[in-house]
Amino acid sequence: MKIKEILQLEGNEQKINLKGWVRTRRGSKHVSFIALNDGSTINSIQVVAEAINCEEELVKQITTGSCISVNGKLVSSKGSGQAVEILAKTIEILGSADEYPLQPKKHSLEFLRGKAHLRFRTNTFSAVFRLRHTLTFAVHKFFNDKGFFNLHTPIITGTDAEGAGEIFQITNLDLENLPKNEEGKIDFSADFFGSKTNLTVSGQLEAELGALALGQVYTFGPTFRAENSNTSRHLSEFWMIEPEVAFADLNENIDLAEEFLKYCIQYCIEHNAEDLRFLDARMEEEESKLKKEERSEMSLLERLQFVIENNFVRLTYREAIDVLRNSKPNKKKKFQYPINGFGDDLKSEHERYLVENKYKKPVIITDYPKGIKAFYMRMNEDGETVRAMDILFPTIGEIVGGSQREERLDKLQERMEEMDVCQKELWWYLETRKFGTCTHSGFGLGFERLIMFVTGMKNIRDVIPFPRTPQNAEF
Ligand code: 4AD
Ligand code: MG
Repeated sequence: MKIKEILQLEGNEQKINLKGWVRTRRGSKHVSFIALNDGSTINSIQVVAEAINCEEELVKQITTGSCISVNGKLVSSKGSGQAVEILAKTIEILGSADEYPLQPKKHSLEFLRGKAHLRFRTNTFSAVFRLRHTLTFAVHKFFNDKGFFNLHTPIITGTDAEGAGEIFQITNLDLENLPKNEEGKIDFSADFFGSKTNLTVSGQLEAELGALALGQVYTFGPTFRAENSNTSRHLSEFWMIEPEVAFADLNENIDLAEEFLKYCIQYCIEHNAEDLRFLDARMEEEESKLKKEERSEMSLLERLQFVIENNFVRLTYREAIDVLRNSKPNKKKKFQYPINGFGDDLKSEHERYLVENKYKKPVIITDYPKGIKAFYMRMNEDGETVRAMDILFPTIGEIVGGSQREERLDKLQERMEEMDVCQKELWWYLETRKFGTCTHSGFGLGFERLIMFVTGMKNIRDVIPFPRTPQNAEF
């Protein structure tokens, strides 16, 4: 039986078998108390092993990290701290754990990153990964309930949808002995797919093709970016959810994104209350170590509730620039990148100022200058800005990026030319603008950034089981 189910029962001496990993064992010669966890819940169960039933030699091997199977009966606990406990009749050691590297004490997250194969067994990481599962489920449920179709877009592609050039090339050519063409350049026609290919940076372009037939679709898959930014918010391999909706304009797109984010957070509160309470307490403890002015005003649970209950602030890029230009930190030259005016890119310090100081709410910025956004976004009347939107979250910064797409063939071709995007390679994308084009919009949610927000974890490496970052692909 799983511990999650057992803990819901009353102790009526019913016979139970359970298996799990030992967190701690303490006690005396006569009786041992084992805290056992099987991952089904944040809570461990207490197993009482009395010397009359369990040999001393065996009990000695029940150390932190070992895996055991227990036959016993469920009784109400005499001790405080738990309602029920297991009185062991027999214990079998399935796997001992000599020199187990995780001590029954608090380890730093950094230390645990080096032990990613074992960190699932800590309370913090088990809670994080149960929540990651719940969020995955919430994503599919939200879109399924709305009549969206999940589309699996390719991981291997020839395109760079975002045009940022941050791609991982893939090849099975012999790198020591590359085939060359007449011009002396690498001959990719000899490569596995007969052309240059890379890992996808986004499923959007293919999702658009789906939306222009199925109406509303969403992708949920891994994306890869060779950005050399070693920050606490960037991964080289991360998961993205990308809905794409025919007939929706930018405002409908924003409404969908706001509803979606609130739904996912609400779903976690309803389904993982114990994990969230644990993480809430964890965050409070972490924050108590900080200086007063560095502590957040809200606890984790308060912050989640706050986001669900409040409308996100919506403003245009031009409005945001005005606010930033006239802000105290800009005037006092506190920003590393000062804001001078239209065209300036918003860096994370600016995003954080807007969200955490100025509005104290999630902020949605729309209508960015065309120069700092991708080629596929719909051009506004002004010829200078595009129908883009970014959603900025407290402590996270950008969590969603999206836009209304350029559905007019001539305008799209113009932008591709301006931005040096190869039209020949994207012939299929362009054909959708020739054959039955229509208004459509979509966005991308960085899944790990949402998990960071929900769990209060401060480093993106701690919300994905095995992070891939520059110089690191272990496990
Ligand atoms: O803003 P981005 O680059 O948008 C796109 O890829 C569009 N094709 C989405 C669309 O319209 N369908 O990325 C979307 C989100 C970001 O807002 C961020 O949350 C996340 O993906 N993201 C990353 N997360 C972790 N590590 C990285 N290196 C990330 N880069 C982007
Ligand atoms: Mg973006």
